[in-house]
Amino acid sequence: MTLPIILDCDPGIDDAFSLAMALASDKLTILGVTTTYGNVGLDQTTNNALRILDWFGSDIPVFAGVDRPLLAETVDAAAYHGETGLEAPELAQPTSKKQPLDAVSFLIDTLRSTDRKITLVASGPLTNLAIVLRLAPDVIENIEQIVFMGGSTDYGNDSPAAEFNMLCDPHAAQIVLSADVPKIMFGLNVTHQVIATPERVQMLRDIGNDTGRVFADMSVFFEKVYREIYGFSGSALHDPCTIAWLLKPDLFEMRKMRVDVDTNSGISFGRTVHDIWNIGKKGCHTDVALNADADGFFVLLRDLLAALR
Ligand code: RIB
Ligand code: CA
Repeated sequence: MTLPIILDCDPGIDDAFSLAMALASDKLTILGVTTTYGNVGLDQTTNNALRILDWFGSDIPVFAGVDRPLLAETVDAAAYHGETGLEAPELAQPTSKKQPLDAVSFLIDTLRSTDRKITLVASGPLTNLAIVLRLAPDVIENIEQIVFMGGSTDYGNDSPAAEFNMLCDPHAAQIVLSADVPKIMFGLNVTHQVIATPERVQMLRDIGNDTGRVFADMSVFFEKVYREIYGFSGSALHDPCTIAWLLKPDLFEMRKMRVDVDTNSGISFGRTVHDIWNIGKKGCHTDVALNADADGFFVLLRDLLAALR
């Protein structure tokens, strides 16, 4: 029996890797893709989700979510992902259209009507999920787990303290992190271990199919900022860590702890705060990824992309 998931994302180059991995796996059933503002504006991220699914010949429905944070100023990550949010010329403009239903309504309706708990995989700002939890708290009982890329147990990327997805909407992130539902977090501390080095990019090219070539090219585009700012030898494949954990959890070392988000304006706005020693005696813990088997991750990624076009 496959695991039913809904992907909430802001494609986004690394979001595209997540979506491709989920499409390739016979262990996952994608009930729908919901999009959010984030790397670029909502119209673009929605268009990019449609581009990816069209290119793979998938009819998985796409539902557009919110176009801005609850309260924070809107930021973007076009510097990393390009103005379109998905610099991949071969992924043509989509012929398919987004669904008329909005993402929040789709999430609530699906969670209320499902006969099996659903895994929510989030790889962008958490505004859609926060609104779902506020508008329909009853759906908690049908959420298997929320697996998300965001935060960091060490440093930020979009500010010295905060990771981009959390910084986009710290208030939404706090709503999700304080929800009484299993949460699994992949922060920069672990996603910065999963680097698409030239050797690993070559491994994708050596698959020999369109997907290996196109996704290798995307990761090379993505690496520009990682070389300039971080001195990394390649791009960090953040979002795909969520899918990799669902498929091969032993690739990651996890530790349960309370995680909150700093929603106070100032230097630490959007920073995730990790009570690793449970000093605050607050419940509602999150499983936080601390370490990754990066080589194992890229073997899984290669094998999944090899199953696609
Ligand atoms: O900080 C990395 C995260 O921000 C990733 O989800 C990337 O796609 C961007 O959204
Ligand atoms: Ca993302």
